[in-house]
Amino acid sequence: MSSFVFTKKIKVWTFVLSIKYNYYTEILLMSSQNIYILGIESSCDDTAASVIYNGKILSNVVASQKVHSEYGGVVPELASRAHQQNIVPVVHQALEKANINKSQLSAIAFTRGPGLMGSLLVGTSFAKSFAYGLNIPLIDVNHMQAHILAHFIDEEGFDKPEFPFLAMTISGGHTQIVKVDGYFDMDVIGETIDDAVGEAYDKSGKVLGLGYPAGPEIDKRAQLGNPKAFKFTKPRVDGLNFSFSGLKTAILYFVQREVKSDPDFIAKNLNDICASIQYTIIGILIDKLKLATKQTGINQIAIGGGVSANSGIRQALKDGEHKFGWKTYVPKFEFTTDNAAMIAIVGYLKYFEGDFADQSITASARLKI
Ligand code: KG4
Ligand code: ZN
Repeated sequence: MSSFVFTKKIKVWTFVLSIKYNYYTEILLMSSQNIYILGIESSCDDTAASVIYNGKILSNVVASQKVHSEYGGVVPELASRAHQQNIVPVVHQALEKANINKSQLSAIAFTRGPGLMGSLLVGTSFAKSFAYGLNIPLIDVNHMQAHILAHFIDEEGFDKPEFPFLAMTISGGHTQIVKVDGYFDMDVIGETIDDAVGEAYDKSGKVLGLGYPAGPEIDKRAQLGNPKAFKFTKPRVDGLNFSFSGLKTAILYFVQREVKSDPDFIAKNLNDICASIQYTIIGILIDKLKLATKQTGINQIAIGGGVSANSGIRQALKDGEHKFGWKTYVPKFEFTTDNAAMIAIVGYLKYFEGDFADQSITASARLKI
């Protein structure tokens, strides 16, 4: 063996060993301390608090605001007021369920954005004051990163994705495809240019006279109907971006036209209409995922957000495992919709990087990944 090849081999081994050394020292460091993080989430209409201890969730409390259902959507002013009412009892409950005292907390993590400004301000101000009072670090968290990093919560029966992977976040407020190369190394490679996918469900539901949020009911009815009964055109959007506002209008005009000739059209065809809407929406999501895997060469896909509860998307992802060789990840439901456990896990990861915020930090409604 020439001395050149030998030196090269030694260098490679030194490199591999140093990576392994860093990895194991990090794990050892994490497990030798007792780290309790309180996570706080208030970006939209859920007031939530969670305690995580060394990577394990001890409590995950969510107070969902019922007040919006009678308006058919989230009313920002009412959301802020409800957060203000709920935040102290919710945090109190999270500490109680975790069976710890506030003096044991190592840091407070909170959602800085994106979201509704009035809602974010409540969680942000509360977190700042609490951390200040307890004299412990404050950690700001990006809500969209948190939806993705929820996959790293320790939970029996749920595998964690390996880097790099693609994350698709689908909810009432977001629709994104993100390339994830590391915990904090993420690139948004596609997103909606108008409505979020959950909004497409909720607004179509409104046209059909369903309650808010309509996603779960459309999903339930879709499973009883014929997905090909009615055809809705898929929007043409370049690359990995999405558009859902045209679909909503197409459904509205279709229903108005049909009801004109038969006033009972909705009642007679509700399951078939729901199945056809779901078939179109899932088709749009899967088409973009196919393109994203092709463009990036990554075939691990993790989903998050309220719409990932949908039976159609879950089945389509499972089918993708056989058809396209994907490996797919769907988190436990309680970590999928807006929750504070996902904020706490990001807080935990940032704690070890010493990535803390100072007391001058402000909420940011349009915070980007
Ligand atoms: O993540 P989430 O709880 O809150 C945010 O919007 O951030 O998501 C709520 C959204 C709503 O639009 C709701 O209609 C939709 O998720 N959703 C569903 C299903 N369950 C919830 N959409 C389709 N199928 C479902 N099974
Ligand atoms: Zn969310």
